[in-house]
Amino acid sequence: MNNEYDNERFFEEYAKMPRSRDGLSAAGEWHQLKPLFPLLQGKTVLDLGCGYGWHCFFAAEQGAVRVLGLDLSRKMIEEAEKRHAGQQIEYRVCGIEEYEYPENRWDCVVSNLALHYIEHIENVFQKVHRTLKPGGVFLFNIEHPVFTAGVGQDWIYTETGKPQYWPVDHYFIPGERSTRFLGCDVVKQHHTLTQILMGLLNNGFELEAVEEAEPPAEMMSLPGMKDELRRPMMLLVKAAVRK
Ligand SMILES: C[S@@+](CC[C@H](N)C(=O)[O-])C[C@H]1O[C@@H](n2cnc3c(N)ncnc32)[C@H](O)[C@@H]1O
Repeated sequence: MNNEYDNERFFEEYAKMPRSRDGLSAAGEWHQLKPLFPLLQGKTVLDLGCGYGWHCFFAAEQGAVRVLGLDLSRKMIEEAEKRHAGQQIEYRVCGIEEYEYPENRWDCVVSNLALHYIEHIENVFQKVHRTLKPGGVFLFNIEHPVFTAGVGQDWIYTETGKPQYWPVDHYFIPGERSTRFLGCDVVKQHHTLTQILMGLLNNGFELEAVEEAEPPAEMMSLPGMKDELRRPMMLLVKAAVRK
C-alpha cells in the first residue's frame, strides 16, 4: 500500500511541524484529548497509526504495562523506536487494516489523526470492538467530516491571499479525496459524521464523548491558529465496550 509518510520529502516536511518537534503539548487537540484517556495504570494499549509514538510513550508514562504501536510507514516506526522506546512499548510496521485484532486483548485502543486514511472505517470499528476487553475504551481523533469534505481541503482565498471561506462539497459522497498536504499529493478518505458515529453504535460501542477540537487560548498567537476557529478540523470520539 502506498503511504506518503514513507516519501522522503513528505517525511522531512512532517518532521518540521511543531507537533513533530515539540510533541503533544504543541498539538492543538491535546488539551481536549488528554482528559478523555481512561486510567491506564496496569492497562494494555494499542495505538493505530502511532507515527513517532508520542501517545504510546504517554500511555507508558501513565503506567500502561503493555503498549503496541502500529504504523504502515517503516520510516515513522524507525523514528518512534529512536524517540519513544520503552520496556513496555513495542512498535510494528503494520497497516491498520492488516492487524489481526485478537479477541478480548486490549484495555484501550487509541488512534490520533490516522483513521482518515482508512477507506472502510466500519470494518476497523468492528475489529476494534472485538479486540477490546469488556469495559475497554476506543479513543480517537480523526479529521472532521467538514474538513475532509473541503474542496481540495483548502480555503478559498481573497485576492490578497487571506482565507475567505472553507468550501464544502460532495459531503454525502464518502471516499477518496486528493489533497495537498505539506506540499505533497496525499490521498485521504472522507467519511460523513453519520458514518463515523453510527458506525460505532452499529458495532456495539457506547458513545462516551464527542468533541470538536478548538485550539487553546495560549496557541492563538501562532500563525493560522485563529482560522482554526472558523471551521472544525478534528473530531474526537471516546467510545466504550459494555462491561
Ligand atoms: C498525522 S500522522 C499521526 C501520527 C500519530 N498518531 C500522532 O498523532 O503523532 C498519521 C500516521 O498514520 C499512518 N498511517 C496512514 N495510513 C495508515 C494505515 N493504513 N495503517 C497504519 N498507519 C497508517 C501514517 O504513516 C502516519 O504515521
